[in-house]
Order: sequence, then structure tokens, then C-alpha cells
Amino acid sequence: MSAEKKRNFPNWEQFYQEADTEKLPWFFRDLEPDVRATLKELDLHRGRALDLGTGPGTQAMGLAAIGFDVTATDISQAAVDRARNTAEAAELEIDWRADDILHTSLTDRFDLIFARGCFHVLDAKSRPHYVANVSGLLNHDGYLLLKTFSVKEPEPEGPHRFAPDDIRKIFSPTLEIISIRETVFHGTLDPFPRALFAIMRQPEPS
Ligand SMILES: C[S@@+](CC[C@H](N)C(=O)[O-])C[C@H]1O[C@@H](n2cnc3c(N)ncnc32)[C@H](O)[C@@H]1O
Repeated sequence: MSAEKKRNFPNWEQFYQEADTEKLPWFFRDLEPDVRATLKELDLHRGRALDLGTGPGTQAMGLAAIGFDVTATDISQAAVDRARNTAEAAELEIDWRADDILHTSLTDRFDLIFARGCFHVLDAKSRPHYVANVSGLLNHDGYLLLKTFSVKEPEPEGPHRFAPDDIRKIFSPTLEIISIRETVFHGTLDPFPRALFAIMRQPEPS
């Protein structure tokens, strides 16, 4: 991976206390089309799902609405509280928890982890912890669906960005990479930023 530009991220707790959630660049009310298509491809329609770094909680709500038993975590308590209120108004049952994936207190195991935008706001030295902790939260046949910015995104500001080979080097062999494809990051920006969508799973025991 070539030398990475230094990127600054907010104090997430303070950020969500003040944010107008629906105007956030990553706010997308529907379940990501990449996830919908993947769940269909994998014939995966039920099970325990974790929305990791849930932010406004829309992806957790989307997964709950189609039948998953969802836990949603974010490092920001304010984000989780606000998302919980929205979900309760929509009568969606979700287990909301403030949790830092780098020091996670989760002990459950999941069939599916959707991580949209959390990985690309972590600094490079945190990535091995992230990979180990995510792998530890997946069931033996569980899937990780990862969405990050792509190196093809031309706007210089924003989160870290990755090429498919970067993702392979960071996540493999802890997780088996099934596919990585170029896509967009749905949200409130026009045009949508260029993104990668990766499907991974726990490797078969040797
Ligand atoms: C770009 S936002 C994406 C939010 C949400 N996944 C979505 O797609 O709407 C990244 C999120 O990661 C959360 N986050 C950052 N560092 C985290 C960490 N160490 N553990 C858990 N969540 C974290 C932030 O609070 C923020 O909500």
C-alpha cells in the first residue's frame, strides 16, 4: 500500500451530539443495494446480524426490516441513542449498544457483519485489531460485508481509501476474500463517492 495521506476524524461522540443526522454524507435511508444483492446471491435471509459503526442506524433498521435479528454498535453513545429512538418509532426491534470495535465488549457471534464506513475512518495501526476483532465476532460460517472508499474516489478530502489489493493484504488470511468490487457509497453527496464492496467469510478450518 502506498504512503497514506494523514486524515483527521472528529470526536464521534461530540459529532453525533451536534449532527443533523439526515444531512450526513453517509446518510442513506434504505438498505445498501450492494447488501440487498449480496444477501440474495448468498441466499441469506435470516440470522444474527451486526451493523458495525451503525451511525444513524439506517442499515441496522434495513436488516431488521427484512428479518435479521440485529445488533447495532457505534463508538458514539449519542449516535446509538438517536438511532434507537428512530427505530422505536418505526417499531423495529434492535439491540443497540455503544461499543468500540477496537476494544469490543461484545461476546456474541454473528452470521453476518455489515461494516459500512467504519473501517475507513480508523487509522492504519488500528487495522490489525479491527480484523482480529471482527473475525472473532463471526460465526464459523459467517460473512463480513465491508464497504469503504475506493482509491478511485477523486475528491481529496474524506476517509481513507483502498484498492482491492490493500483489502486483500489487510484482511487475508484471517478472513477469506470471496469478492471485491468497485461500487459507490450511497448517501447525500452528488455524485456518490467511489467505493469498494467486499464479501469475506471465515476460512474453512485446515
Ligand atoms: C462513515 S460513518 C458510517 C455510519 C453508518 N455505518 C452508515 O453507513 O450510515 C462511520 C461510523 O463509524 C463509527 N466509528 C468510528 N470509530 C469506531 C469504532 N472504533 N468502533 C465503532 N464505531 C466506530 C462512527 O461513530 C461513525 O458512526
